[in-house]
Amino acid sequence: MPQLSDAPSIVILTGAGISAASGLATFRDRGGIWAQVDYREVATPEGFARNPAKVQDFYNFRRREALAVEPNDAHHALARLELAWPGDFLLVTQNVDDLHERAGSKKLLHMHGELNSVLCLKCESRHGWREDIDAAATCPACGGTGTLRPDIVWFGEIPYHMDRIETALDKAALFLSIGTSGTVYPAAGFAEMARRAGARTIEINLEASGRGSLFHECITGPATDTLPAFVDRLLADQQ
Ligand code: APR
Repeated sequence: MPQLSDAPSIVILTGAGISAASGLATFRDRGGIWAQVDYREVATPEGFARNPAKVQDFYNFRRREALAVEPNDAHHALARLELAWPGDFLLVTQNVDDLHERAGSKKLLHMHGELNSVLCLKCESRHGWREDIDAAATCPACGGTGTLRPDIVWFGEIPYHMDRIETALDKAALFLSIGTSGTVYPAAGFAEMARRAGARTIEINLEASGRGSLFHECITGPATDTLPAFVDRLLADQQ
């Protein structure tokens, strides 16, 4: 098992838990998003086809909410790690907020899409978007009206960037799973893939996700406390 100090290539997966301290709800904690709304109605293509206005309202609210909060110490710790890390580095997030970007992360892939992006159903173009999407919204590329959907990967759709993610996992020497329940595939399978590639796998979560056999180490507690200290330790080992 490679020691931390031998970790030339690092892959990190984050989930809703890393944004919790910024004030954004997670999905499956008590009172989480999926306890308040049925994911089949707002996070599936079928739900969108049935009631597009309800889906647009759901993401309009989440977009406004995410733009109104700030990155927390855990986001900043990962941006600091990226800047100082001597080897390959990739941050994969399941989150659709832009808090990693606003903390300074650049080597970042959103595998479930982004709230600040829209997709045109007519011409399939993608555009940065920070306003509410309503029926009058017009596609900047084709001029289509009412053709814009949230650029979010819904259940049953194919996550983005999987080729790049799998390539990075094959080379990883260190894999960190941060603030995710590890219940949704393919992200839930990344720890196993990294471990098979010989990586050291570490879970950093409020509570252990119950998948301890996948991880060489589990660090529990709020990410705003545990992650800055972990990054300090990791960088000290690099000296
Ligand atoms: N610090 C660290 N971890 C935390 C914190 C915190 N302050 N608060 C909560 N957590 C942990 C919880 O213990 C839980 O394991 O974050 C995890 C959040 O899990 P989920 O709510 O299931 O969110 P996530 O894993 O990101 O969901 C994955 O499911 O619905 C889909 O597309 C959606 O991307 C999402 C995916």
